[in-house]
Amino acid sequence: MSTRPSIPDRTSPDEPSLPARPPFALRARILSPLDAGGTAHFDDGLLAVDAHGRIEWVGAAADAGEGRREAALDLRPLVLLPGLIDLHSHLPQLQNAGLGFGTDLLTWLDRYIFPLEDSFRDRAHARRFAETAFRAIAAAGTTTVLGYTAVFKSSADAAFEAAEAHGIRAILGKVMMDRLTYDATIDPATILDRSIQESAELIDRWHGAADGRLGYAVTPRFAVSCTGDLLRESAALAASTGTWWQTHVSEDPKEIAEVRVLFPEAADYVDVYDRAGGLGARSILAHAVHLNDRELTRLVESDTRVAHCPSSNLFLDSGVMPLARYLETGLTIGLGSDVAGGPDPSLFAVMRAGAYSQAALRTLRGEGRPLLGPLEWLRLTTLDGARALGLDGRIGSLEVGKEADLIALDPRLTDPLAVAGDAPADPVDLVSRLIFRSHPAMVRAAWVRGRQLEGPPGLAG
Ligand code: GUN
Ligand code: ZN
Repeated sequence: MSTRPSIPDRTSPDEPSLPARPPFALRARILSPLDAGGTAHFDDGLLAVDAHGRIEWVGAAADAGEGRREAALDLRPLVLLPGLIDLHSHLPQLQNAGLGFGTDLLTWLDRYIFPLEDSFRDRAHARRFAETAFRAIAAAGTTTVLGYTAVFKSSADAAFEAAEAHGIRAILGKVMMDRLTYDATIDPATILDRSIQESAELIDRWHGAADGRLGYAVTPRFAVSCTGDLLRESAALAASTGTWWQTHVSEDPKEIAEVRVLFPEAADYVDVYDRAGGLGARSILAHAVHLNDRELTRLVESDTRVAHCPSSNLFLDSGVMPLARYLETGLTIGLGSDVAGGPDPSLFAVMRAGAYSQAALRTLRGEGRPLLGPLEWLRLTTLDGARALGLDGRIGSLEVGKEADLIALDPRLTDPLAVAGDAPADPVDLVSRLIFRSHPAMVRAAWVRGRQLEGPPGLAG
């Protein structure tokens, strides 16, 4: 067995440490999708961040001017990418990641998830766990997470406090369940009002906190665990407070059949949320694997956003989303880990699962639609995720004026021969390597608004 070498050359003790806060400038290979379309790639690039944590300059180092070049910390051959955006994750579930392969969704929730989430009634545990979770998420290269906590208000407070201290960009919500819940202590007669009241209190405290780095998503779990009243009131709360609204839709065949029984008046699963006033540009629905044409059209018409979670869909044997067909309609789609439905918090692993499942789908269906390439998967995981959240004016790409949410990767760790040779020169090949040969240690650093996050190991780690 060959052992993987420690990162060479740039890990010597006299290596300058990475900037912890802005302003700073980095010289590195730089790759980013662009708002206007296409991808920027600077083989020898420079990115400068101003004192407020905004990108003030990005381009080829040769064009940066001598002053900027001299002030920059040279990270070559590391690669800078926009920080990854996880559009769907369950913070308390991280601990059970990888458990229950192939179990159908409703059984898996009962067996592996509800008992686990119930342990988050202990606030101190929830706080400690969230601190660990955010470090692990940042170590995977994710700088923005749209996440669910447990049903307990205190678990959401604890998660927000941990996110505030950690520095990650987080939009979170207390899970709401008034039909089927694991909180056996709560009086069924008060559960709906209490869930709305607690969500409203959390919005007051956290939506827009940390100068807009934290946000609130009103979070009814899914139609199986929520009454029509809760869905309606939660959607009204999100609309009146300008918060996001997130839930699950059309993930698993048994779940869909159950929703049909619970909501006989609805035309289909999407219609359950439509009738509740839950569709729209601030709504992010996870999965959407088995949509019929009517549902797809309603999501597009209403500008509702979808979190595609391919590794979860494979792990729980839920099905394969016809991604290319959905994208053709103009639906706004980002990528989610759905931990622990998805076994890995790394969005590189999620991109890989997505690419493989789309290739399999194309073969099985004999469809002529072209496969998404590596750069398109990267766009889904960065700029498209930002678009889904309506945050693409601020994050999602490395462009002047945006907030400096970025990651530094060491492509040498993805080299199968461990020879620490040159990374592929072609940007498509480079991103292909990062996706299909991702290494747990390749994310060396992550910054949000130019503030370095704890989690990734740094240059010498
Ligand atoms: N549907 C309702 N709750 C969940 C959950 O926690 N994970 C997944 N994958 N689907 C859900
Ligand atoms: Zn989920």
